[in-house]
Amino acid sequence: MANLINGKEIAAQVKAEVAKESEKLAEYGVTPGLAVIIVGDDPASKIYVRNKKRACEEVGFYSEEFALPEKTSQKELLDLIDTLNKRFDIDGILVQLPLPKHLNEKTIIGAISPKKDVDAFSPFNVGRVMIGEYRFLPCTPAGVMELIKSTGVEISGKNCVVIGRSNIVGKPMAMMLLHENGTVTVCHSKTENLSEITSKADILISAVGKAHFVTADMVKEGAVVIDVGMNNDEDGKLCGDVDFESVEPKAGYITPVPGGVGPMTIAMLMKNTLTAAKLNSAVAAKRPPKK
Ligand code: GUN
Repeated sequence: MANLINGKEIAAQVKAEVAKESEKLAEYGVTPGLAVIIVGDDPASKIYVRNKKRACEEVGFYSEEFALPEKTSQKELLDLIDTLNKRFDIDGILVQLPLPKHLNEKTIIGAISPKKDVDAFSPFNVGRVMIGEYRFLPCTPAGVMELIKSTGVEISGKNCVVIGRSNIVGKPMAMMLLHENGTVTVCHSKTENLSEITSKADILISAVGKAHFVTADMVKEGAVVIDVGMNNDEDGKLCGDVDFESVEPKAGYITPVPGGVGPMTIAMLMKNTLTAAKLNSAVAAKRPPKK
């Protein structure tokens, strides 16, 4: 039977540390501030945004939500980002993805000041992650790294297999594992002999978006299995990519869904916002007094 990796508990520890540091900043008159922009009415995005705002309250941050209508133009959104880039009380700017089709995601993300890009999605910050000289790490893979480290399993020299090659999870995940000296393989929809590759993984990370995708025959005995998937099963219940019932007895460590990677993503966002506030604090010291 696998050891369950408790993402909820580890996320609570990360947030507690952030809250402590936030209190220290408050002594200098600095309150970390996060702006969250959501365009349209996607129900899942609305839940994510609500959870992000709630986390800000928990750790003592200021947060401001900009809920824009579906028909918002590219110029209106770029103007808002420009205003937020210049505001002293906003340290982090997050544009919830996906955006409606008429908006150019690359242009929008690229408009966020790299100093306030707490998702680490802008080309500048992606490049920093690539060369291992980063200020922000993208939240989901950064959360996964914390979960792996919590197991005490050494990454160095191990076979690490990532299923999924998205810009948000798969690619940065591979890079972070590489920085920790893992031997990394990235698999995707065109990969041949997938289970042959995954069954050699000491650390297996799935970010595919398909319920029951990872089955027991794809998993090495005793492996660390991290499930980034957020799917609905046949009964409409939240589930990951991993067929938990069959994989759990075989894995050494495994994350549940919910309660695994999900809470970590938000905790790491809080950590990044704190980092941004510290980075901006030289500027913050010049903030006009609050009215
Ligand atoms: N949509 C799904 N995941 C994310 C995320 O981590 N950040 C943002 N901004 N949008 C997302």
